[in-house]
Amino acid sequence: MNVLVTGGSGYIGSHTVVELMTAGHEAIIVDDLSNSKECVVSRIASICGRKPSFYRINCTDAGKLARVFVENDIDAVIHFAGYKAVGESVTTPLAYYRNNIDSTLTLLEVMEAYGCKKLVFSSSATVYGPENPHPYREDMPAIQSASPYGWTKVMIERILTDYCTSKPDFCAVLLRYFNPIGSHTSGLLGDDPNGIPNNLMPYIARVAAGQLEKLTIFGNDYRTPDGTCQRDYLHVVDLAVGHLKALEYAQDHEGVEAFNLGTGKGISVLELVKAFETANSISLPYVIGPRRAGDLPAFWADASKAKNILGWEAKLSVEDMCRSAWSFASSS
Ligand code: UFG
Repeated sequence: MNVLVTGGSGYIGSHTVVELMTAGHEAIIVDDLSNSKECVVSRIASICGRKPSFYRINCTDAGKLARVFVENDIDAVIHFAGYKAVGESVTTPLAYYRNNIDSTLTLLEVMEAYGCKKLVFSSSATVYGPENPHPYREDMPAIQSASPYGWTKVMIERILTDYCTSKPDFCAVLLRYFNPIGSHTSGLLGDDPNGIPNNLMPYIARVAAGQLEKLTIFGNDYRTPDGTCQRDYLHVVDLAVGHLKALEYAQDHEGVEAFNLGTGKGISVLELVKAFETANSISLPYVIGPRRAGDLPAFWADASKAKNILGWEAKLSVEDMCRSAWSFASSS
């Protein structure tokens, strides 16, 4: 299959491109490099032994996106492209709504113009909002979020649902990710955000590398076993494999379907810190700070739907996640 991967040089996108190419598909990356680097494309080539096609394009540019469809016989699209920093989305909501919603609408219009009817969308557990009890199940209302970033995911899920109603032969698979961490075993790809990381694992990695002085754990007075927040951390390579399964599913299905991609287990911040220290024989300086606004105490996935319908489940351990994250951070 020829698969267009928007945001394909980003963290999850690049790992997914590797899995696609390893499985024998052709990947065509569209990315504006607003939060990734072009060297990722040659790193993918050294892992896979061949280069994916690459277009430096923002997906809101319909003319340039159409050219990609003209030059490549696109069978399906995996749509990652979008801004993704929760805190930044609170200070610049218009940029988030404009970019994330507009790029999806433009992509759908171009897909329609070129008769492409299979889409896998990069959604998030954030759509379950603060009201649902965990573990989150796909049949719970997924219509809430705490940030403009999260609302773009809710809105895009809605847009795709309405689009599928209007086009019964279109298939949109909504993948609701929990907390992906870790890196490819080659150490060539990983989570490498610009500036000071917001997310836990890249922050831990920079502390371990001595680039940041210490980790601040945001609160230890939550009603959880050790007082720190619990999340469902999953290995990014497992997550990437989930996209292949979703693509296979989309080939012989129509309509919209959502799947959680998580392990089904909650891990606390302190447990992850300890796991990182043990896996890498590193001592990690940390302090306990105040709670971060907007954090939920705990949530994880009910991952049974993906297992039963897609035949996907997370296989890699927390130790694998911590080792590979450090292997990437210490070599880049
Ligand atoms: N944390 C710290 N210190 C840090 C960074 C994070 O203690 O320096 C804690 C947070 O308080 C939280 C946990 O580590 O308890 C995980 O935080 P992340 O920022 O790594 O991840 P979140 O769960 O907040 O956010 C993730 C995704 C979002 C998504 C959200 C909800 O990054 O895209 O889950 O699904 F919207």
